[in-house]
Amino acid sequence: MGAGKSTVGPIVAGRIGAAFVDLDAEIEKNADATIATLFATEGEAGFRAREAELVATLANRENIVVALGGGTVTSRRVRRQLLAAGTLITLHARASQLLERVGEGEGRPLLQGNAQEKLEALLRDRRAMYLECHGVVNAEGDVAEVADRVVAIAARAPLSVPLGSRSYRVEVGQSCLHWVDEAVAGRRALVVCDENTRRYADRIKGSSWLCLRSGEEHKNLETVARIWEAAFSARLDRRSVFVAVGGGVAGDLTGFAASAFLRGVPFVQVPTTSLAMVDSSVGGKTGVNNAHGKNLIGAFHQPERVVCDVATLSTLSERDRAAGWAEAVKSAWLAGPEALERLAEDAVALREGDLDASVRAVRMSVALKSRIVADDEHERGARALLNFGHTIAHALESEGEYRRYRHGEAVALGMLASVQVARRLGLDVDHAAAGLLREVLGEIGLPIELPSLAGLAPFIANDKKRVGDALGFINPAAPGEARIVKVALPAFFEAIRQV
Ligand SMILES: NC(=O)c1ccc[n+]([C@@H]2O[C@H](COP(=O)([O-])OP(=O)(O)OC[C@H]3O[C@@H](n4cnc5c(N)ncnc54)[C@H](O)[C@@H]3O)[C@@H](O)[C@H]2O)c1
Ligand SMILES: [Zn+2]
Repeated sequence: MGAGKSTVGPIVAGRIGAAFVDLDAEIEKNADATIATLFATEGEAGFRAREAELVATLANRENIVVALGGGTVTSRRVRRQLLAAGTLITLHARASQLLERVGEGEGRPLLQGNAQEKLEALLRDRRAMYLECHGVVNAEGDVAEVADRVVAIAARAPLSVPLGSRSYRVEVGQSCLHWVDEAVAGRRALVVCDENTRRYADRIKGSSWLCLRSGEEHKNLETVARIWEAAFSARLDRRSVFVAVGGGVAGDLTGFAASAFLRGVPFVQVPTTSLAMVDSSVGGKTGVNNAHGKNLIGAFHQPERVVCDVATLSTLSERDRAAGWAEAVKSAWLAGPEALERLAEDAVALREGDLDASVRAVRMSVALKSRIVADDEHERGARALLNFGHTIAHALESEGEYRRYRHGEAVALGMLASVQVARRLGLDVDHAAAGLLREVLGEIGLPIELPSLAGLAPFIANDKKRVGDALGFINPAAPGEARIVKVALPAFFEAIRQV
């Protein structure tokens, strides 16, 4: 309260030609009572219920700017609804500034008593909630400038990964590498790329650059040590930032290096492969391989910003590009029938490198992944759904010594094999949807003819996700209804032998 929502909101609406709604005023009008009266008669809970109901209606409207109430986003459900429906901006001002604007809190039921103490307590309690947004704008300056900044963020229609104080936004665009400069703004930055993404890294403003050798075989601790060395040479400090420009390898390496440099510095992901855009750049898993296996050493370290420029995908080989889209197909299946059908319409365009279709596929995948990660950041439950198709995929990759298949190709086959395995295990799988899954994968240019799975058992027995004599199998079931089921290993092996 007092941050200027009701002042900035109409200016923003004017700039973009949208209607303006003041949530508090609308509630007062609908109830024909002041907010103070509503609090007195219905309590805060009653008022919040009215608020949530109104937000649900507004979420379906196009082209409006809404000034929320100060406490609207304290409901997690409402917050998520707002994040999905549009761009959610937090106007930030210091308590002293806010107090000057709201005075003694007249007409503000939550400030009754000692206004300063009450306000400071509210800000403390709500801090993490206010950070779950698409962007925080400093509201202490000139209102026209504040409105400019709000419009600039909203113009990119960013997505958000809401994780309290670790929340960040994901921007997806075409030829938008210059957006990265803003994300880095005014800080020392170490830009890390590999030989194939150097041309993109060169276009980003930094303080220093490090070009790694490309390839999974360099995803190890020695390379991380090189990143640290470069960061020390460039005199990075705790306010500095790492920027990863490349595929999942560059992103995982740079993120892990950032997680431990001076006990953790922020990093920005600039994914340049389809796989990195739809999967690895979002969610905060970072790490390296070692002699014991892949990704066994690592950390959860969320990026501070993700900028996806789909134009960079044009220099990727067709095979690599298609491989990454396998994860988008996976996301669409997990998201539900509408997402799968929309992706099916775009499948051929994706294969041909169409940029609009690429933006749509990335946005759909990021939206799905961010929803899952927001509920289960450290993979204690539902995040494991993102492993749909992956138990068999990893086994196919190991069996082929990581040369036969690209990861995404193995995932395509792993998803199709999972459909078969589920049926052998006596689980129902939506027949029509499974047919569509196969069709989409084929149209994107991914393999759809299942190889023999007979030799996979030893590789599955070594899977790090195995728990004792059982494994968590992702039963595809139907779009939007995949579930994790525990399956005894012998039964699983029997099923894959029959596929
Ligand atoms: N952190 C996670 O959540 C997560 C999720 C999935 C996968 N991963 C990891 O991601 C890695 C695979 O990522 P990937 O498929 O992006 O591989 P990659 O990073 O090795 O990139 C593939 C190849 O494409 C090149 N390249 C990248 N961008 C290019 C561009 N725009 N134009 C031309 N060439 C380009 C790279 O130099 C490399 O040779 C694996 O190590 C995997 O473990 C991590
Ligand atoms: Zn994968």
